[in-house]
Amino acid sequence: MAVRVSAARLLTPLIRELTLSPISGTLPAFSAGSHVQVQLQVGSHSVRNAYSLTGDPAEQHHYRIAVRLEADSRGGSQYIHQQLAVGDELNISAPANLFALHAPARHHLLIAGGIGITPFMAHVAALQARDASFELHFAYRGGLSDAYLAPLQQALGERLHCYDASLGQRLDLAKLLASQPLGSHLYTCGPQRLLDAVREQAQRLGWPRAKVHWEAFSSAAPGEPFAVHLARSNRHLQVAGEQSLLEALEAAGLDIPNLCRGGVCGQCVTRHLGGDVEHRDLYLTCDEQAHSLMPCVSRGCGKPLVLDL
Ligand code: FES
Repeated sequence: MAVRVSAARLLTPLIRELTLSPISGTLPAFSAGSHVQVQLQVGSHSVRNAYSLTGDPAEQHHYRIAVRLEADSRGGSQYIHQQLAVGDELNISAPANLFALHAPARHHLLIAGGIGITPFMAHVAALQARDASFELHFAYRGGLSDAYLAPLQQALGERLHCYDASLGQRLDLAKLLASQPLGSHLYTCGPQRLLDAVREQAQRLGWPRAKVHWEAFSSAAPGEPFAVHLARSNRHLQVAGEQSLLEALEAAGLDIPNLCRGGVCGQCVTRHLGGDVEHRDLYLTCDEQAHSLMPCVSRGCGKPLVLDL
């Protein structure tokens, strides 16, 4: 879908919010927790990253995303922060949801770290609209990664619990997870170390896996250039350092299913037949990685990569 950047603002020195409006017609409705893929032309190649929709799902006229400036990235966040201007056009995908709320939950426990607050902005709006029982725990560094803090304080009052690392405030996960009422569902989004800590603590306390929901805030990271041989079609491709394998396959005309573009949803799984793989996904087991890879994040290294494509 073609959209126009209709507004932009800095939420913190590191986080820029964009409002995206349709160029014609209307945008598809979305549910809380959805993301869209945004296509960006960075230098000579096209980058596609997934960003959570941060707006209220009841607002149908535009989408909002918020992007953190990453130093060690393939250039997408730098492009959004330094080059993209109000009035520019972008291509985005339709929304998809890998982080939906579970309506029957008796209580919703939301835990956000830094830029991981973005999907919760939509969750909070949806939970408030249905008068559901919830609480939000937000860990951040004051003045850098505390996007949306003031409106959340105003809207949530005592349901918001803040942990500012610059003030030495820490979230006690063991205490928090041990004190939730029966029937609670837990949702977390943020840096990998937060996700790991939340999931480990939930497992230690016996939370059922079906009640623990997480969204990794990951996207393809750059690496060394490498060569790929597509065995079935007998083609050879070169993947640039700033390009993901998935983007290189798409540029060559292959249509690989994908949703998250961050190595977590499992959609883009592809068989490899030879060569060395640097696996960077959070989805495949070690046994599965022996024959499959996730081209959205994983790369070739060492011996040339051969794919069953
Ligand atoms: S697109 Fe989700 S794992 Fe690759």
